[in-house]
Amino acid sequence: MSDPSPTRPTLGITALGMYVPERVVPNSDFEARMDTNADWIESRTGIRERRFAAPEQYTSDVGVLAVRDLLRRDPQALQGVDAVICATVSPDALMPSTAALIAMQVGLTGAAAFDLSTACSGFVYALSVAQGLILAGSARRVLVVGAEALSKIVDQNDRNTAILFGDGAGAAVVGPVPAGYGFQDFIMGADGNGGSSLYLRCVAPTLPGGFQMGDSVGMNGREVFKFAVRALGDSGTQVLAKSGLTTADVDWVIPHQANVRIIEAAMDRFGLPMSKTIVNLDRYGNTSSATVPLVLREGVDAGQITDGQQLLLIAFGGGLSWVAGTMKWWGGAPSLTADSKAQQQAEVNA
Ligand code: ACO
Repeated sequence: MSDPSPTRPTLGITALGMYVPERVVPNSDFEARMDTNADWIESRTGIRERRFAAPEQYTSDVGVLAVRDLLRRDPQALQGVDAVICATVSPDALMPSTAALIAMQVGLTGAAAFDLSTACSGFVYALSVAQGLILAGSARRVLVVGAEALSKIVDQNDRNTAILFGDGAGAAVVGPVPAGYGFQDFIMGADGNGGSSLYLRCVAPTLPGGFQMGDSVGMNGREVFKFAVRALGDSGTQVLAKSGLTTADVDWVIPHQANVRIIEAAMDRFGLPMSKTIVNLDRYGNTSSATVPLVLREGVDAGQITDGQQLLLIAFGGGLSWVAGTMKWWGGAPSLTADSKAQQQAEVNA
């Protein structure tokens, strides 16, 4: 770990929740309305199905449900939270922020609230921003929500994009953890020159230079693929070096879930086997800022991620943007134990 000042508190994730909508959309659903087939989608991406939000369900709604899951697991988890960050590329509105809408519905009215827009890098970016807010003395604890209703902003007749994306949300509280645990280092970056590889029009019709954007997500898949493999490999290697670690120290690589072939290529660059990473894109597709917390939550619930393990978080997204983070998993809080869901069920049944 790089040398933190002795007075600097150690910060990490102290609570975690998730939500995915009920509606399951298998690959075969796309066959009827576009020139594609289920086998092509699975073999080229690893995705078998994804979840779509209900017609009346938007990003703040799925975000709130992820926070409620966190509260079910640990009713005290939001105590001391005085800032809320929502990482999203599919906000309910430009204003009010989706973060403010979520805060209002989970009892955090009055807390600072803002959205963070780095697409699929957003959740890990937001962890770093949350750490900064706390270290600066601007917040005691921060609620970070990665929430998306991508099905609303993707053209469901465009085979380049429709097959890739799903809806979902993850929520984490960032706060003090015992010494030796929690966040070590982050590397973040962005390059607007890659803006035309992944875009969605809002106010301006064009990007600087004149590139015309459309009203639903547009993507140059091959360019994003090449960028992703490079960005994940480079930023992951840099953050490990910054923390004084090597790939041999890593228990789990937690990657953004866009395409299993991108994850395989990144693991190959790290010289690590696929057994050192967790993949759930087969069931959820690419949920942008929600992928990393969904993987963390499911990894803990499955008993894979356990107390004291070394994690490497890596993500890339629109911007183009990239982020990597090192953290020692702290499993000491009530919502971070693998059996908390089983315990709740037992309490419900009792
Ligand atoms: N079904 C059937 N065929 C298709 C489909 C489809 N849905 N899409 C493309 N094809 C065809 C192409 O037309 C092409 O045909 P051709 O050879 O006759 O020209 C062929 O399949 C191969 O096309 P490629 O684009 O080379 O396919 P590739 O193997 O690169 O896979 C994919 C495409 C899945 C989009 C891949 O490039 C990818 O995953 N890129 C990264 C995308 C990504 O990660 N996006 C999310 C970014 S994160 C964020 O911030 C939102």
